[in-house]
Amino acid sequence: MSAPSMMLFHSPASPFVRKVMVLLHETGQTDRVAVHSINLSPVSPDAELNQGNPAGKIPALRLEDGSVLHDSRVICEYLDLQHVGNPLIPREGSARWRRLTLASLADAIMDAAVNTRYETFLRPEDKRWDRWIDAQLDKVRRGLASLEQEHIAELASTFDIAAIGVACALGYIDFRMPDFAWREQQPKLAAWYAQVSQRPSMQATAPSV
Ligand code: BEZ
Repeated sequence: MSAPSMMLFHSPASPFVRKVMVLLHETGQTDRVAVHSINLSPVSPDAELNQGNPAGKIPALRLEDGSVLHDSRVICEYLDLQHVGNPLIPREGSARWRRLTLASLADAIMDAAVNTRYETFLRPEDKRWDRWIDAQLDKVRRGLASLEQEHIAELASTFDIAAIGVACALGYIDFRMPDFAWREQQPKLAAWYAQVSQRPSMQATAPSV
């Protein structure tokens, strides 16, 4: 086994980082990437992370030549071009745009859940804006309702970039919003998630602090 040629800036709580980690597991590429965990929040930047990545985004992937890829969508696309198995992002045709749009919905759910976390945990209590939090939670609710009503068959058809994104979004909701009780309203999504959560790639990447 050769030494990893790439380095992933990583946070064990980030659902966006988890997407990349799940893709690495699913495509047999974990040995190619060294994981560099950093403790990050929007108000505590990391100087090393900011090199070549001025917005300080995680995940970021430093390649062998020192260049840096971000964000999770770009990194997943890059890594999916680096293995010989079935692509997890369809290369062309209508499937590509359908799966990427579903993956975008998953990212939007993650964004809203992470925004809620920052607003309720990081922001000083006297500066919190309840209407804004409610609007973020509505985005999560609408996203989950759409997955339940319109996308279950698509999700269940293959564990690709779209399914990985949705699974990581649900994992983050359970991790940071344990009282959100989404399963009652979305029983088909809950059954699908219970199944995909058993995959080794999901088990190996469960969020932690
Ligand atoms: C979190 O702690 O919830 C978190 C950390 C990094 C990125 C996103 C979320």
